[in-house]
Amino acid sequence: MKREEILDTTNSMLKKHLAGQRDQQFLRYLDPDQLQELLHLEDCSDGADWPRIFQWVQMYLDHSVKTGHPGFVNRMWGAANLPSIVGEFTAAVANTSACTFESAPVSTLMEKYMLQEMLDLAGFTNGEGQMTTGSSNANMLAMMAARNEILPEVKAEGLRQQSDIVGFVSADAHYSMEKAANILGLGTRHLIKIPVTYGGEMHVGMLVEKIEEALVEGKRPFFVGGTAGTTVRGAYDPIEKLLELRKRYGFWLHIDGAWGGAVVVSRKLRETYLAGIEEVDSFTWDFHKMLGTSLMSNVFLINNRIHTLGKVCSAGDDSYIFHGENSNAVLDLGAISLQCGRRVDSLKWFLDWKYFGRKGFAERVEHCLSLCEHAEKIVHDSQELELVLPRSSFNLCFRYKVREERANQFNLALRTKLHHDCISLVGYAMHEGKLFLRLLLANAELTTEAIDRYFTDLIRTGKSLSGG
Ligand SMILES: Cc1ncc(COP(=O)(O)O)c(C=O)c1O
Repeated sequence: MKREEILDTTNSMLKKHLAGQRDQQFLRYLDPDQLQELLHLEDCSDGADWPRIFQWVQMYLDHSVKTGHPGFVNRMWGAANLPSIVGEFTAAVANTSACTFESAPVSTLMEKYMLQEMLDLAGFTNGEGQMTTGSSNANMLAMMAARNEILPEVKAEGLRQQSDIVGFVSADAHYSMEKAANILGLGTRHLIKIPVTYGGEMHVGMLVEKIEEALVEGKRPFFVGGTAGTTVRGAYDPIEKLLELRKRYGFWLHIDGAWGGAVVVSRKLRETYLAGIEEVDSFTWDFHKMLGTSLMSNVFLINNRIHTLGKVCSAGDDSYIFHGENSNAVLDLGAISLQCGRRVDSLKWFLDWKYFGRKGFAERVEHCLSLCEHAEKIVHDSQELELVLPRSSFNLCFRYKVREERANQFNLALRTKLHHDCISLVGYAMHEGKLFLRLLLANAELTTEAIDRYFTDLIRTGKSLSGG
């Protein structure tokens, strides 16, 4: 096949796949063994066998989860925005690494431009930032920046002979915080989990207690990681109260907004959920989650500091790559990043931003919230369903009502049946021994009618399973 034919074939397969996102079922489910058998992964190709290559592409598409389908309510993302898909294609074709200006000139300028836009949006002054590989790594960078600020010798000396530092997050914080404590050598026991309130927010009184305890033990509280939109419940930790405590104890206050930080684009929702965000030390959120940019697209921002990333991350080799004498080297984003090669994530991000603008993104987030409110009302009015936890924002934690002693088993079976019958895919989680379904509505193309259908299908399946 000629290159042109290959690209045309790819194009028509992808166009067909995208056009069929909402049709029929969200998945053609096969068990792992059946799928393994179908894929023939171990087949040898004699080389340059394009028809065989396209068979694998087709199988990939045929057995993908259609994340743009109304039945896909499982994760924090849905169908990707079209401008970002165009950006992703373009970046793949141009194939370069966004580590230096000379290898990625436009991408570098776009990333810098977007970072400044985001600093302005957050209200950070004299700040800096970067795109990371996702909020997990952004959380780690924040903890690392806080650690290196309180222990300036740590970069050269390591943690040996340094004073004992402790960080704090809520019990509902994302597991990436614990990973960060491990990777950074603090040890997970030095990241203290603060219980949450009935609504799922970090309990500020308990935080004070734990900080005071640490001080009595001669430890130095260096980091508090608040969450804007916790993973399971969607709760927002109280930023303004945490800022008050920062005045007293001097820790670095980071806000992990991977999921719920997206409300920063909406003036109305920012006021409700993120009051005080412009004063925190660092903030991250994912454009690839609620905002719909194709995976991955993350922004990490630091407030009131302009050389922290360079100091924290740089171990850059200027013998072969980051040539200090070259005036453009100051633009090299690789020099202040954790990795050497960097994906060009800025192009799709920039294109999405230009296409939707702050207003378009704000409408999107407000729509997602209204869908969740609609879903909550359905659960509330239904005889068959019940909320397990109060709704804080964008997450709905509910279950099908059956006798308490078989509720967990039943809801797990219901979820599995919905999945394997290719009706819908919803996540599940546990709270105080209760298993529940966690509905996430991150696909802004969904309508209230689609949500109605989702629940009708779920209740019908629940009734058939319970023999009702
Ligand atoms: C609150 C929170 N923080 C961090 C993350 C991790 O984000 P990423 O997948 O971009 O690493 C998640 C992912 O679900 C999350 O919910």
